[in-house]
Amino acid sequence: MTASRRSMLKLAAGAGLAMATTPALSGCSAHSELNPGQLTSTARLPAPFTVPLPVPTPMKPSTTGAGGDRYAMTLRQADVEILPGYRTRIWGYDGTFPGPYLEARQGIATALTLTNALSVPIATHLHGALAPPTEDGFPTDLVYPASLADLADPAKTAAMSDMPGMPGMPSMADPLARTSALTRTYTFPMAQRAATLWYHDHRMDFTGAQVWKGLFGPCVVRDEREAALGLPCGPREIPLMITDRAFDADGQLIYPTSDPTLLGRPDMAKTIAAGAQGDVILVNGAPWPHLEVAAVRYRLRFVNASNARRYELTLDGPADSAFTQVGSDGGLLTTPLTHRTLHISPGERFDVVVDFSRYPVGSLVTLRNTAASGGPGQVMQFKVTSKAGDDSTIPTTLSTIETLTPTGTPHRLVFSRGADRWRINGTTFDPAKPLLHPQFGAVEEWRVLSTERHPFHLHGTQFQVLGRNTGGPGAYDHGWKDTVELSPGTEIRLAVRFDAYRGRFLAHCHNLEHEDMGMMATLSVS
Ligand code: C2O
Ligand code: CU
Repeated sequence: MTASRRSMLKLAAGAGLAMATTPALSGCSAHSELNPGQLTSTARLPAPFTVPLPVPTPMKPSTTGAGGDRYAMTLRQADVEILPGYRTRIWGYDGTFPGPYLEARQGIATALTLTNALSVPIATHLHGALAPPTEDGFPTDLVYPASLADLADPAKTAAMSDMPGMPGMPSMADPLARTSALTRTYTFPMAQRAATLWYHDHRMDFTGAQVWKGLFGPCVVRDEREAALGLPCGPREIPLMITDRAFDADGQLIYPTSDPTLLGRPDMAKTIAAGAQGDVILVNGAPWPHLEVAAVRYRLRFVNASNARRYELTLDGPADSAFTQVGSDGGLLTTPLTHRTLHISPGERFDVVVDFSRYPVGSLVTLRNTAASGGPGQVMQFKVTSKAGDDSTIPTTLSTIETLTPTGTPHRLVFSRGADRWRINGTTFDPAKPLLHPQFGAVEEWRVLSTERHPFHLHGTQFQVLGRNTGGPGAYDHGWKDTVELSPGTEIRLAVRFDAYRGRFLAHCHNLEHEDMGMMATLSVS
């Protein structure tokens, strides 16, 4: 591609971005928080706790062996039943909402071949994975659908030099973009500890819309150490992916954009420019589901896969600590921690044990979200149906975690709101221009300050929280983290070390609408 061609495309993409400024973020005083908008369903909604919880079973690899565990999925449109009595059009990995449950083994590579049978470009990020930058789902590393396959071919894009640019195709403005046509294989070495991960779309400017349509799914990494601990397992270990959505009178997902094809310029409506929230809570894709449990311990792996909603989860019943946290984003804690309430912001995972023997057989135990009222204030319900034997344990020592002690001058990141875009250090996302240059192998202190609430997420490593303002870490900050909640006026201090891979990674807000509207930064680890 010639330099002039490149700069012209850059201009064109820049013009596209400028269009995204329509949903002005100003209009209220700089000191008031701009909360995510809530969309309202007009579909007939089920009574809470009437739909059974879908319990995911791990997908079978197509082959295992020298190349690792191989999986293949096709991203496609499908009409699925989410609300009873409706067929909802979704975009899903293998046409499901959420996508298939991936189970990976430490030390054995997972090779995931994705075929894009949608009408839009995609990028897939395995959130929580330590993967080389080529495999990390960078927002411009797009896999184009058949209809746009030419855009993945440098020879052909060079020949498109007379076109007025390709709005909505920012990979054209990123000389380092690694694009593909139709299909590509992501290979994850899985040289990492056991943990709860999840995968989701990461297409630049359109992640919110594409995840909302269904492009997300659960993943766990297992290792032998963890398996030897005796935590609840088998049918007593369940991933719970929590999302919120809104449905129109035909049962279709509501996500206001003026171009529902998602092929033109990004232009989400003002109502969701601070984040899209629905009024229906889905767990594993089912609205306010219920699950029958025995009066024993269960391991529940909570994933907040919502675009913009944070939850404060509580369980009905005895008012003492209901949740025993055993793991965070990056796997097991050193020792279990108990919580009465679990605060979980978008992107975070909490791996907890709940002991249902606390409840008499016959109890209905509701999982609530005290951060909201009405529909979004309820999540799901457990029905304690029987007594059963339980040989699980929660060891008082779960794992060892080295303590990271940073040296050198701290890096500072400020998350803020501009007039029309969300910003980090005053600027908006530029895939080609790194904002930070972390040094490979060094333990650095990062100080992240925010004017509003944002879930801060880092690709390429897991970090440790040193403290908030002058205090220590918060109740939900323990263990290895890759996502952590920033709150207004609070400076969070992190110990960060990139020691897995060099190259291009990301730091961003995991409120997906904020992310799409600029709140993302390129990192260059060298
Ligand atoms: Cu789960 Cu860059 O995101
Ligand atoms: Cu944000």
